[in-house]
Amino acid sequence: MARSKVTVVGAGNVGATCAHWIVSRELADVVLIDIVEGLPQGKALDLAQSAPVMGFDLNIVGANNYEATAGSDVVVITAGVPRKKDPVTGKFPSRDELVKTNQKIVGEVTRQVAKYSPNAILVVVSNPLDAMCHVVLQESGFPSERVIGQAGALDTARYKTFLAQELGVSVRDIHGIVLGGHGDTMVPLPRHTSVAGIPVRELLAEDKLQAIIQRTRNGGGEIVGLIGVSAWYAPAAGTVEMVEAILKDQKRVIPSAVYLRGEYGYNGLYIGIPALLGAKGVERVIVMDLNDDEKAMLDISAKAVQDVVNILGY
Ligand code: NAI
Ligand code: 2OP
Repeated sequence: MARSKVTVVGAGNVGATCAHWIVSRELADVVLIDIVEGLPQGKALDLAQSAPVMGFDLNIVGANNYEATAGSDVVVITAGVPRKKDPVTGKFPSRDELVKTNQKIVGEVTRQVAKYSPNAILVVVSNPLDAMCHVVLQESGFPSERVIGQAGALDTARYKTFLAQELGVSVRDIHGIVLGGHGDTMVPLPRHTSVAGIPVRELLAEDKLQAIIQRTRNGGGEIVGLIGVSAWYAPAAGTVEMVEAILKDQKRVIPSAVYLRGEYGYNGLYIGIPALLGAKGVERVIVMDLNDDEKAMLDISAKAVQDVVNILGY
């Protein structure tokens, strides 16, 4: 069987960590791309030199142009400017303030990627996530089932981590889901959260649950506040979970930013919902039976996403 090939665009924190976990899980050969000369080549070489110790047989190369990416099965797009403290004002830009800068970067990247890998499935990571999915859809011209955004996998992982820590149980026994846009309006769903099937509200007081929901919504900001730049381990883990589902045709149900055509009442909008991911990309949009409160929260989140999408000018 031929090996799979994954391109990761952006050899920064998230991109390099994606490459790391893709090869350590032996998923595919990796091409790492960045605009900075030497950076993707150096990180690819370093990663390749870990292979004799870690025991994987994969090709890892770095480049500044796209020839080497030709024929990729999956392309992960992490290029962009992350949330970073302004050294002069000391303030952090919001995700949404990054929209115009990253639209230009992601647009350029997408045109190159689409030219060299016309059949690839594109996994978008750059922020503001839901809006950048619109950029990639527009600039690639690919069908929407082949343009998927990573956010829900990360947001759900954060939610599960906080619950497991609070309850003192294994993260593997926490089941739950976070819907909506990748921002402060995301929608963790406690009614659909369980510990090995036991409804979470039977095990956790409401005030503690609400505190965890709030902490999840601020999950990205909490890390930025600690490190000064945005997170990369959990974002890359969420991304690689999606890449693996696609490459192995796993039919995993992973909350992902997906282009909706009327599902949940939204038309022509990317937003986080449970999606069945397999070899064709988004193979099914799963429509949950939300109650009025949950739907109202999702509506607020969808409006927040739409407000950013409007800035794109498409
Ligand atoms: P980083 O700054 O460490 O890496 C970004 C890389 O993109 C840099 O190496 C930069 O040189 C490169 N780049 C910039 N313009 C490029 C171009 N035109 N072509 C190729 N490469 C280019 O940033 P980090 O932390 O890796 O974050 C990357 C993006 O992912 C940011 O937009 C960030 O906000 C977003 N992010 C999204 C998450 C999500 O859950 N969707 C979670 C974490 C980060
Ligand atoms: C995060 O959630 C900033 O999107 C990035 O960590």
